[in-house]
Amino acid sequence: MRITINQVKEFKSKGQKFAMLTAYDYATSRIVDEAGSPLILVGDSLGMVVLGYDSTIPITMDIMIHHTRAVVKGSKNALVVGDMPFMSYHLSEEQALGNVARFLQEAGAQAVKLEGGVNVAATIKRIVDCGIPVMGHIGLTPQSVNQLGGFRAQGKTAESAHKLISDAVALEEAGAFAVVLETVPSELAEIITQKIKIPTIGIGAGPNCDGQVQVINDILGLSDFIPRHARKYADVREIMSTVVQKYISDVANGMFPTPAESIQMVESELIQLQSS
Ligand code: KIV
Repeated sequence: MRITINQVKEFKSKGQKFAMLTAYDYATSRIVDEAGSPLILVGDSLGMVVLGYDSTIPITMDIMIHHTRAVVKGSKNALVVGDMPFMSYHLSEEQALGNVARFLQEAGAQAVKLEGGVNVAATIKRIVDCGIPVMGHIGLTPQSVNQLGGFRAQGKTAESAHKLISDAVALEEAGAFAVVLETVPSELAEIITQKIKIPTIGIGAGPNCDGQVQVINDILGLSDFIPRHARKYADVREIMSTVVQKYISDVANGMFPTPAESIQMVESELIQLQSS
């Protein structure tokens, strides 16, 4: 039985901090799910950390559906959140609803995430009115990287912080069940967390959010660039590199495969083959 949005909201009311992690494929999803992450986000960050783009902008609905389906297959307990990609919810509410439906029907996600605040609140309300859970995302919203002038912290001035507080309130009023706060000052994240009743999930937003989210490639040490807000819990890139080098040299030296890693014919069949 998967975690529900009510349980996610209860984490906040009980003061229980919780984690969310991204996953983009079946194998990683299984590991994240079995390790106990209550939420898995199939983030459009996959454009950068899996597909090697400079931003999340090239990511399409078809790509997101493909990866989300694999993550849903790999998980049993976590609530899987599909990330609505660039311009998949801005053209009209009908476009947004159609794409949200794809996440649920074709990929099997339980919820979707949208970037934006006041500007997407009406769309979120419409989706929630259809019975579909929505996670908001404000602060550094990577799909707006060109308008923000780069991947830079948001809400550092009183005026911009006020705007983000209004965005968070608008998301709560629209019916979002949680909101991601990305790369904003800890003090602002704390104010927003106290002001709204739905859980805040921080990334680069300090320790006072209700939950925390990280990009799995960053905490595994797989990304080319590890952001300041991430902690590299392991150097999986180094481990993989060592394994690949060992395999290449074992093949070159005739050390792989051994008879134990090969299939043998029964002797009578071999004799028959050799004499025919
Ligand atoms: O795409 C993503 O992985 C995200 C998280 C960083 C919150 O939106």
